[in-house]
Amino acid sequence: MNAPLTLASTEAVPGTRILGLGHYRPSNVVTNLDLIAQGVDTDDEWIKTRVGIAERRWADADETVVDMAEQAGSKALAAAGVSTADVDLVIVATCTMPTPVPAAAPQLAARLGIDAPGAYDVNSGCSGFMYALNAASAAVRVGQARNALVVAAERFSGWLDMTDRGTCIILGDGAGAAVVGASDTPTFGPVVWGSDGEQFDTVAIDERTHTFRQEGQTVYRWATGQMAPIALEACERAGVDPADIVAFVPHQANLRIIDALVRRIGLPNAVIARDIITSGNTSAATIPLALSRMVEAGEIPSAAPVLLLGFGSGLAYAGQVVLSP
Ligand code: UT7
Repeated sequence: MNAPLTLASTEAVPGTRILGLGHYRPSNVVTNLDLIAQGVDTDDEWIKTRVGIAERRWADADETVVDMAEQAGSKALAAAGVSTADVDLVIVATCTMPTPVPAAAPQLAARLGIDAPGAYDVNSGCSGFMYALNAASAAVRVGQARNALVVAAERFSGWLDMTDRGTCIILGDGAGAAVVGASDTPTFGPVVWGSDGEQFDTVAIDERTHTFRQEGQTVYRWATGQMAPIALEACERAGVDPADIVAFVPHQANLRIIDALVRRIGLPNAVIARDIITSGNTSAATIPLALSRMVEAGEIPSAAPVLLLGFGSGLAYAGQVVLSP
């Protein structure tokens, strides 16, 4: 009997790590009072106590998803000290491109001067960055890319129904980015991911009006009820006690969700991302945006365990412990 045919393959590396982070927030600050001045039937106190948002950023009229991704991506490359010549893969997580094609990633790569990398977009709503990060890590791990640039960028201000006060007050624009490269040891714990497609219709861009809508209370109950066990499993599978987590960076959907998760997970020594207060909910971008700002502010030491938790449209989710850059 003939031996099975084998092919030459790429060479795996022992581990991967986040080499650097970057973020971008548009300069246009929109306070709760600004929304009221624009005619939204709401009040500052309600938004602050029920959601936790004081202000969000909205892109200028001519500022695109790719523009914001470029800003965050170039900062991440600089922070990582990685040359564009050494990037083989670019992944953009977004659900707010103006049209389904072309994807953002090839345009972003061209803007940054990254020559002919593999390039594609990931759409998993608010958990998109987690899926993109793991796709990048897997590609580097098996030797398909030396370094990968992962950017989450969203421009939700273009998809709002300003008469729906339950949603238009929540969403913001922005971008966050990470460069993933090879490491001598693993620094990504196992990702605990999943989805509940039965609830696909609870968070959506409405097909008819092309505006964002969600069943807020259903998603709230799902997030507060189902996501803490995912976070705890991510810690357990990474072999890290929750007491040793130095930072918790969950999706920034609602400050009350974040606080409920912290109570249920039990993170006595972690600094908690509360970027929603001044950035709003930037969907896929919330995690890298918050993480990058925390690292920049010196709130997270290097090579320390950070718990990430993405959740949202799908309903899809992903929890994971990674070591900080
Ligand atoms: O990022 C993707 C994943 N998404 C999430 O995780 C979102 C999860 N859900 C939530 O965070 C919350 O459900 C919301 C922030 C979206 C809404 O908060 P809520 O406490 O669930 O409010 P509600 O929709 O149940 O409305 C409660 C009351 C209503 O008034 P009545 O009927 O009780 O008199 C609303 O009309 O609050 C009123 N309301 C507002 N009042 C002032 C709703 N929105 C507003 C507003 N300003 N913007």
